[in-house]
Amino acid sequence: MSTLVAALRSVVGDDHVLTDSDLRATYETDWLRQWTGTTPCVVRPGTAEEVAGVLRACAAEGVAVVPQGGNTGLVGGSVPRRGAVLLSTQRFTELGEVDARAMQVTAGAGVTIEQLQRHARAAELDFAVDWGARATATVGGAVNTNAGGSRVVRFGTMRAQVMGLQAVLADGSVITQLGGLPKETAGPSITNLLVGSEGTLAIVTAARLKLVPWYRHTAAALVACDSLVHAVGLLPKLRQLPSLDAVEVLLPEALQAACKHLGMKPPIDPASAGAFVLVDCAAHRDPTDELAGLLSSERGILAVGAQREQLFTIRDHVTIAIGALGVPLKLDIAVPVLNLDRVVRAIRGSLRELAPNARLIVFGHLAEGNLHVNILDAGDAADALRHLVLTTAIDLGGTISAEHGIGVAKTEWLERLKGPAHVAALRAIKHALDPAGLLNPGVLLPGD
Ligand code: FAD
Ligand code: LAC
Ligand code: ZN
Repeated sequence: MSTLVAALRSVVGDDHVLTDSDLRATYETDWLRQWTGTTPCVVRPGTAEEVAGVLRACAAEGVAVVPQGGNTGLVGGSVPRRGAVLLSTQRFTELGEVDARAMQVTAGAGVTIEQLQRHARAAELDFAVDWGARATATVGGAVNTNAGGSRVVRFGTMRAQVMGLQAVLADGSVITQLGGLPKETAGPSITNLLVGSEGTLAIVTAARLKLVPWYRHTAAALVACDSLVHAVGLLPKLRQLPSLDAVEVLLPEALQAACKHLGMKPPIDPASAGAFVLVDCAAHRDPTDELAGLLSSERGILAVGAQREQLFTIRDHVTIAIGALGVPLKLDIAVPVLNLDRVVRAIRGSLRELAPNARLIVFGHLAEGNLHVNILDAGDAADALRHLVLTTAIDLGGTISAEHGIGVAKTEWLERLKGPAHVAALRAIKHALDPAGLLNPGVLLPGD
């Protein structure tokens, strides 16, 4: 290993190869504190050429490489396993000039989502994808997980924002597609292939990204619904709103947990409803009246300014509040919205049977039928509950990963979801691009 460390030092410089256990520690455990591994070293290249040098040095020694951005991933894919080298993208912080005519910008893989949003707003534009970990999660991580968040209903997931990438393949070759052409028909898109590949096909070093208008006028509503069926029933009319920016859902336990964590009185009594829908509108003109008009027959609160900020602070803190309560069984499913209520009923029924003392906290992105199912204190029933939640989602026409990825957490479920032909095709692509299995082995593909 000392040969490899010396080789890596010669590629990136002594300061950017961390071998000290104190310095490695934060890179070795994930955000959930659920996955831990040790790495001989953390290496922090600063250019695509240095990434290529790192990959070649690791390949020469037969040592795997795990890429890591902000380490906010929730499926264990960014943590070193079996002595792999940890490649951090922290030094890829370059932000190019905003092209307001094309509404695009080039961002380094290590730029955080918040830095990107600020940069876009300085040019009167905005970056569309947004979620609670914005201060730490990076562009490279978001590309590799195809991150979603709260504004997918309006702008789509990360995939819809990516115009092109710069990426280093396992053999050290560099693909650069940062021209930002909105139209090109020249074969399949390698950019598209890399989005959502979870660091298994290439190391992304930069992305050419779409920007969107910055809507400064906002209004939100927290609607108290009798049930999830009622909540889903709001969607057709909400979708009529031209300013619709987010439709999130919190079941009472989620509202309660986030407010308690923040030491805040809940804006509505959590026990007074079966589900809460958080609607956000954003436009170039004040959308308050159109939102209020649309929801006039519903129970809840309309919030602008600081009160709206407070609702989103609550929303952003649900995952953090759960993390403070313990290490949950955390699942990220999506089903066609008509089936949301059935899924939650099935989960509640199984909990009563298998783990009556467990605590269920459910919230998510209503418009996409995406629920974050968190079960605390599942004990010995964790595996059975995971099985139940994931099979129920698949059986109801849904998915086992709407936005967090497969990581190491769900590899054994991929074939059940996608079928053997699909997984064989993915495996063939992996083998073609990374025949030695250098990049993030154990992530995404079963038995890798
Ligand atoms: P990491 O965690 O470092 O890595 C994630 C994966 O990408 C790993 O497999 C890693 O190997 C790979 N990777 C990272 N960078 C690169 C690169 N440059 N090249 C190749 N592979 C790379 N996600 C959502 O989609 N929506 C949400 O609403 C949401 N909310 C969250 C809220 C909280 C409080 C937290 C902690 C997380 C949340 N997440 C959410 C999950 C997480 O923030 C996203 O998955 C994010 O995209 C991960 O980015 P990261 O930079 O932290 O990546
Ligand atoms: C959220 C994360 C957990 O929506 O995806 O808060
Ligand atoms: Zn989410």
